Amino acid sequence: MSTSANGSDGIDVVVFDTTLRDGEQTPGVSFAVPDKVKVAKKLEEMGVPVIEAGFPINSEEEAEAVRQIAEAVEGSTICALARVVDADVQAALDCGVDMVHVFVPTSEVQIKHALHATPQKVVERTQSAIKRVKDAGVACMFSPMDATRTDPEFLVEICQIAEEAGADWINLPDTVGVGTPRSVQEMVERVRRHVQTPISIHCHNDFGLAVANTLAAVEAGARMVQVAMNGIGERAGNASLEQTVMALHCLYGKRTGLKTEKLYELSRLIERLTGIPTPPYQPVIGANAFSHESGIHAAGVLEKPSTFEPGVMTPEMVGHRRRIVIGKHAGTHAVQQALEEAGLHPTDEELREIVRRVKSLGGKGKRVTYADLFAIAESVMARVPKGQRALELEQIVVTTGNKTVPTASVVARVGSETRTAAQLGVGPVDAALKAVRAILGEHPRVEIVEFHLDAISGGSDAVATVLVTVEDETGRRTSAQAAHEDIVIASVEALVAAVNQLMRLRSAQAQGQPQQRPKLEQEVA
Ligand code: KIV
Ligand code: ZN
Repeated sequence: MSTSANGSDGIDVVVFDTTLRDGEQTPGVSFAVPDKVKVAKKLEEMGVPVIEAGFPINSEEEAEAVRQIAEAVEGSTICALARVVDADVQAALDCGVDMVHVFVPTSEVQIKHALHATPQKVVERTQSAIKRVKDAGVACMFSPMDATRTDPEFLVEICQIAEEAGADWINLPDTVGVGTPRSVQEMVERVRRHVQTPISIHCHNDFGLAVANTLAAVEAGARMVQVAMNGIGERAGNASLEQTVMALHCLYGKRTGLKTEKLYELSRLIERLTGIPTPPYQPVIGANAFSHESGIHAAGVLEKPSTFEPGVMTPEMVGHRRRIVIGKHAGTHAVQQALEEAGLHPTDEELREIVRRVKSLGGKGKRVTYADLFAIAESVMARVPKGQRALELEQIVVTTGNKTVPTASVVARVGSETRTAAQLGVGPVDAALKAVRAILGEHPRVEIVEFHLDAISGGSDAVATVLVTVEDETGRRTSAQAAHEDIVIASVEALVAAVNQLMRLRSAQAQGQPQQRPKLEQEVA
């Protein structure tokens, strides 16, 4: 059990993470038990004081996940959800958790049409559920569900009843996301005038106000924020952990005790496990959160990052990287720096021509990848290092069919060595890409972080365009694209091109190529 769950340990706002409970209620999302344990361990490592691990009455697997998390995590308070029903509370207690979060509808519409009960029944069940949790010697959180649509007088009354019954926290949910910063602030202030129990806030994002409403609640005196990584959750999701925490730290000067430099990595893990891609423009953890393309912005950031970034929040603070993207809006500075970091030093005239060609490519609506930039640069500078590519594909054979597991075997040259590898996959593209990765071995560890196959229009012989982004163990990324009538070949060629650019960048930096501004992470598109 975390001591900061009580608000001690010199923190101003207690973070209650509900990624594994409300987050898992995201339509289409379901975590396997070991994945839930893995996420809980990562949340613990990041210093999250309270983790809502699940809703045990839901299923035996859910109860098992909560049990395993309660067993495996020592540094955070583990909480389980329960309705104000004996069986739910008992199922939560049986998992060995430190806290039980009991909830009951309190708005008229939900009491009538979801609970099919009366306010009197709500009161009685609330008292008995809280008592049951407290008699078991476990901390209790009480949520009057749909608090923002609950009659204000009844809301105060039920919170007072929960306080008298022994609740340790009162959580006010904006269940359907209809609160506004002002109404949430007033609700928190009103409840705080009548109860001493610390207040928590739980906001949904139906109008995109979840984080703003959560922060308004903190301004009104809420001590705890219920949030989910990447903002996942029912319908439009919950207040995002990363946005709420960074705003609290950087804009409000409030301490949560979280190791925020782990946010990016955790966000990527949640992205992988949920299969929900993070939009690039997502604050804090989106691919573009610290990316710059326009010439004016990129030049400013190259000189001083705070010119076109918040300044109070840096990519390093959240484990992210700053990127200069080369495209239609790119400026000379950014192109020059990208080339210099890869060991290319064009003359002024060559640089002007490279920039002209990059802009013209971008202007045709084409995404300019790292591979495109270097192809342009090498042709302008007439210095194509023939035969010097790190990875040279020599042969690929793929078999697939309805009665066989797709298999790919690849022969390629890595430096001066010829290597072969064969891999199975869920489809021919997967098998081929796995085989190419197997050829590389573990040094460097290259992961495919983006694979994009353009819609193929026309006949069955139409050309497919594949864009692949790879990342090495240091988080450096490069992208490349390739087009071919055969999607396996297009995919493999894009991967090989991206790997070659990555290798080139690594070797330029290993040889200590001059880096005028060493902190900049370059990426093209
Ligand atoms: O949104 C909600 O009301 C909830 C409760 C269970 C707290 O998730
Ligand atoms: Zn919720």
